[in-house]
Amino acid sequence: MAIRQTDYVAPVKEGYAHFMLKEIHEQPLTVRRELEGRIQDGLVDLSALEIDELLTGINKIYMVGCGTAYHAGLVGRAAIEKLARIPVESDIASEFGYRDIPWGKDELMIVISQSGETADTLVALREAKKHGTKVLAVTNVVGSSIALEADKVIYTHAGPEISIASTKAYTSQLLIMYQLALYLARQRGTMEEEELKKIGNELNRIDTHIDTIFLQEEKIKQLAERFTHVQNAFFLGRGFDCAVAMEGALKLKETSYIHSEAYATGELKHGPIALITDGVPVITVITQDHLAEKAMVNINEIKSRGGTVFAVCKENLQMLCQNCDELILIPDIHPVVAPVAAVVPLQLFAYYVAVLRGNDVDQPRNLSKSVMIE
Ligand code: M6R
Repeated sequence: MAIRQTDYVAPVKEGYAHFMLKEIHEQPLTVRRELEGRIQDGLVDLSALEIDELLTGINKIYMVGCGTAYHAGLVGRAAIEKLARIPVESDIASEFGYRDIPWGKDELMIVISQSGETADTLVALREAKKHGTKVLAVTNVVGSSIALEADKVIYTHAGPEISIASTKAYTSQLLIMYQLALYLARQRGTMEEEELKKIGNELNRIDTHIDTIFLQEEKIKQLAERFTHVQNAFFLGRGFDCAVAMEGALKLKETSYIHSEAYATGELKHGPIALITDGVPVITVITQDHLAEKAMVNINEIKSRGGTVFAVCKENLQMLCQNCDELILIPDIHPVVAPVAAVVPLQLFAYYVAVLRGNDVDQPRNLSKSVMIE
């Protein structure tokens, strides 16, 4: 159910106080839609999309988008590099044109855009095409400028997203990123079939994992109350979790107007830790089993400087994370697909903080849904 620009249907909140909350809760359904007909016996098959020609023989990918779409691309980069062993460069579209890229042969650009109309992303797309590089677009809007100008399109099936803060479009974009990574890995034989099936099957269950997270909504709301008067917040994560932390920080700042910054956890000690004083709130994402111990070393450094640490962590890692002040648990899922689940508590958290601060949640100040100027 990609949306068409001509298919205007008056949006309804269906009993939710805001579109943002409705769209967060739609995610079990929208991620499910994203998978329909694409995974057979744990293996992803995208042949029906007729993008094989674009994917064959590529040796480098440029992954480009803005804001939340850029963050989806960061997860895509990590997944494609890990599973399909193709080098991926991620960039924010507004900077892409200034890089003067030494373009090579057999490269592909993937542009991600919910609206399909973001001017910066369109400029990056045109830059690639000018140099003979093919472009694959991932967008939510049929007939949008990006869809029309790209060589091929994969439509997300998030349905209309009304809230300016993107939530369900982001998780839909993530699902496409994983499908591409798994499909490329299968085509190139870069991973054992059994491992691909394990991740594919996990992806297939992601809707039920998201449903489980909603059981903690009341707890997330209570945590949000502690942020009603906060001025600054930091988000941390390593590997896949770093991309999730970036998205969490963006959600919080755009809806609540709290100054929130995300850092790669390991980067903290190279400067930002100077900002950690008594009571400064730090939200950390810990879903990568092999990185969790390292993350806790850094968390303990924050704690010893008086910081208050809230962690979104996987159930199986909760003992390790006991030194955090509060834990929001997500199910014990495969670390590669954990970002889809880990972002949901951060979306809810941003939503409730914004509501408690009396902000216009669906229409935050100074923002618009589609940014059509450079
Ligand atoms: O329509 P697009 O996905 O191209 O929009 C990109 C960004 O403007 C957008 O994701 C923005 O960052 C959102 N407000 C984030 O919630």
